Amino acid sequence: MGNTELNKSFMIETVRNDVSKYLEYYRAVYSKYLSVDIPEFKLKYKLRELKPVVKVIDEIKAVSLSELKSIVSECRKCGLYTTRKNIVFGSGSAKEKLVIIGEAPGADEDESGEPFVGRAGQLLTKMLSAIGIERENVFICNVLKCRPPNNRDPLPDEIAKCSGYLDKQLELLKPKYILALGRIAALRLLNKDSTMKELREDIHNYKGIPVVVTYHPSALLRNPNWKYPAWDDLKKLKELLDKANE
Ligand code: URA
Repeated sequence: MGNTELNKSFMIETVRNDVSKYLEYYRAVYSKYLSVDIPEFKLKYKLRELKPVVKVIDEIKAVSLSELKSIVSECRKCGLYTTRKNIVFGSGSAKEKLVIIGEAPGADEDESGEPFVGRAGQLLTKMLSAIGIERENVFICNVLKCRPPNNRDPLPDEIAKCSGYLDKQLELLKPKYILALGRIAALRLLNKDSTMKELREDIHNYKGIPVVVTYHPSALLRNPNWKYPAWDDLKKLKELLDKANE
């Protein structure tokens, strides 16, 4: 095989790997919503049979958030380190004993190194202040600490490789409650293949910590009608926090 042929077959292989990673992702995350009704297709991709599986790959030895942050800033476990400008570790405090978890940094967050500073972040700040919570008094972070290029959804492999960092953050912060923003965050914490409707109905459990699930603020910007149910979720969270602080 000549050089051109080799390059061509390398490129084909790379594209094939990328496409199969995307398929794997969409099957895991969106299988419930896919309404493909072609039996051969279902058979080939085993739609609806796949459960989202998140494996914690390794244990991270850090005894403080600052130590953990410096470990994350050196991270090269997945390809996202090649395109990130900054890691977005998370910020705030555990004063309210609440940790809020989003999906992954966007362009503004990648630029600044801070979570939820773009449009979705401004909405999140307003949502919190509507229930009397100052943003500075909660810790806000994401499932992924680096931005996926072009704001694409996180891949299962990226979620799995980043999962030890989030677990360690929660172990160190010891929140009384967790608010998961959107299905990706809920899926990562709960490892449940459920719809947003089902996820919002219950209070879930992550290692003994109650988890409330609501819509991601970006979804609310796209679908303003969901702000009403999201408001119900926030009131539920506020009641729980108030009870815990009585
Ligand atoms: N969306 C997220 O999920 N996280 C951010 O930090 C910003 C936007």
